[in-house]
Formats: sequence, structure tokens, C-alpha cells
Amino acid sequence: MSDRVVLAYSGGLDTSVGIGWLKDATGKEVIALAVDVGQGGEDMEEIRQRALACGAVDAIVVDAKDEFANDFVMPSLRANALYQKRYPLVSALSRPLIAKHLVAVATELGANSVAHGCTGKGNDQVRFEAAVTSLAPELVSIAPIRDLALTRDKAIAYAQEHGLPIKQSKKNPYSVDKNVWGRAVETGPLEDPWSAPGDDVWEYTDSPAAGLAPEDVTITFSAGIPVAIDGAAVTPLQAIELLNARAGRHGVGRIDMIEDRLVGIKSREVYEAPAALTLLNAHEELENLVLERDLGRYKAQIEKDWANLVYDGLWFSDLKSSLDAFIEDTQKYVSGDVRVRLHAGMAVVTGRTSPESLYDFDLATYDTGDTFDQSHAKGFIEIWSLPSKISAKRRARK
Ligand code: ARG
Repeated sequence: MSDRVVLAYSGGLDTSVGIGWLKDATGKEVIALAVDVGQGGEDMEEIRQRALACGAVDAIVVDAKDEFANDFVMPSLRANALYQKRYPLVSALSRPLIAKHLVAVATELGANSVAHGCTGKGNDQVRFEAAVTSLAPELVSIAPIRDLALTRDKAIAYAQEHGLPIKQSKKNPYSVDKNVWGRAVETGPLEDPWSAPGDDVWEYTDSPAAGLAPEDVTITFSAGIPVAIDGAAVTPLQAIELLNARAGRHGVGRIDMIEDRLVGIKSREVYEAPAALTLLNAHEELENLVLERDLGRYKAQIEKDWANLVYDGLWFSDLKSSLDAFIEDTQKYVSGDVRVRLHAGMAVVTGRTSPESLYDFDLATYDTGDTFDQSHAKGFIEIWSLPSKISAKRRARK
């Protein structure tokens, strides 16, 4: 049996040409693997047939939408994960999942290598290869575009020469990666950080200026996981799909930022993630209601580390796994309802309630009958600020 390589296949130009290119350059048989993470668009069976037509010895489609939502997105929701306080890790979450399936297929079909269509300038190459090596250190990763000089021009020429069945889609200036958690858009006019995103950038969201009336949605969480929307039970995947539609109509979830890539480059990124930003807002606010103060403060530090690790491609690292254990423990009280108002690009929490609530009306109220003994505050402040007072006296002596 000749050597085999399992290629992460999207159905697009680069990975379609990548099949023949890999075979020509390495002599390996190519197995194409297409993973459905809710990117939508083309029918997966059509994509599978195209891989075979492009010369793959086998082509496999995996519906990983629920797995993605349950095992990759939900941990990030529980971690309130936003890279640089803004990016909900859309692409960073899907890469370790795809890598996991690459490894599973390679192991099952006796391939000694895997391949992906990333360039040498981005984060995704790091995420794929770091994940693969963490799961199967003996597997070799190949990136045709980066390692085998498969440029865009060469890909187009190769496809024409070999009559590959690739639709030359209308010229899209953007590089897009999407899944159910959101959509990432780069390049083209966006490479000028001053140039505002045009209307052609958006797909998951309508204009926030469309003038729709406000819409309320109630999200029920159980242990940090959304389990019902407006009282109707949902799976995590259904919650995300539903909120993408509802929040997307109000233009919720548009993000425009300069991002620090792991490889050292600053890049201009546009995202749209309506469900992600709605759920993250709601989840974080529910935590505010139920987490003891110091736990909430400490968790916020851990969340930053978690988001950085995942952004940097270390999903399967020991540190990430230990942080997951901590975060999981924090979620045992994160159950209850959050009401969110969707309006004009915003998802604003307007109500929260929980059987685990630490909010005590009698302590918080400014009305008569409160149970907080204000006379204790005076002594508390005296002792609390004592170190500052002593230090101030020393300053005054100098
Ligand atoms: N910059 C984002 C990230 O590193 C998005 C990457 C999108 N990938 C793509 N091939 N367009 O996670």
C-alpha cells in the first residue's frame, strides 16, 4: 500500500487543487475529509463528489455540528472567551475539532500524514498542526500552499489544465472562514485599517440601522449551558442557530478590530457572531448574579488565559485541560434565566433570575427595613484603609 495523506477539504479552489498537487509532489494517495461545522453554503455530498473528481482515493464527510457546539463552543461560553476582549474565537475553536477528525481518519485508514490548506502567515496552520501533534505525535503535517509552493495563480492554472470541476465563483475579494459560532472576514479592502467594511462583508447579520422594533429573548441556562429559549427546550446547537437568526436580524454581533496574530502580525479582522455575543453577554451576567465575588474576579483572570491559549492553538495542552477543570467547577451554580433585548445592533441584558442567586434584596435595598447594618461600615473602612493611612503619613514626613 502506498503512503496516504488525509487532507482537510473545504471544497474550494485551494484544497481541490491541493489533492492533485499533494499527489504529484509526494506520491501519496490523498483522502479528502470535509467536516461540517455549520459553515452552510454548499451541500456536503456535492463537496464529497468534487473531492473524488479531483483525484482523491476516498472522500469522507463528517457532520460535526453538534460535537462542535457541545464540546468546543460550550466550553468557550462557560469561559466567557473573547480574545483581546472582543473576538469569540470562531476559527480558533473549529481547528482543533477538524484536527481531531483528521487524526481519527488517518488512524483508521492507515495514513502517516495529514494536510491542510492554510498559508504560512496565519494562526490556523499553528492550530491544526499543534492539535495534530498533541493527539498523534507520529503524524506528519503538510501544508501544500506553504510547503509545496501552491500559489493562487498556480492553483487556477492547475485547475484549468486538469479540467477540475471547480466553479470559478464571482470574484470575492475576501478570505472568509465560517461556522455556526460566527464568520471571520479578512483581506481585500479590509487590509486598509481605515477603510470601513462595505455592505458586501456581511452575511449573518442585517443592518443594525434597519429600524426593527426591539425584541426580547429569554435564555435559560443550566450549569452554564443554554437549555431553553423562551421556554422551549434546545440543544446547544439549536440555541446557537436560533439566536444567530434572531439576533442577526437586529444586526447584533458585528466586530471590526485590529488583532494580534500568534505569528507576530497585526491584522484587520471583521467578524459577525450574533449568537455568540448574545449568549456571552447573557452567560456573563448570570455569573454576576450567582458567583461569589472572589470566584468571579479570579475566573476573569483565568478566562483571559483560556482565550489566549485557545487562540494560540493549544486546545489540547495540559494547561488548557486544567483550566477547563477549574471553569467546569465554577459552573455548578450558573443556572437560571436571562432576558436579553435585541435592538439596533445591541444585545442588552434587561433581567436575570436564578434559584442560585446571591442577590439579597434586604441587603441591597435603600428602602427602610434593610438588614445591612451600616454602623459596621465605619470600622471596616478604618481597618481596610489602615495600610494606606500609614503610608500617607510616611510620605508627609519626607
Ligand atoms: N484571525 C482569525 C483567527 O485567527 C480568523 C481566521 C480566519 N481564517 C481564514 N482562513 N480566513 O482566528
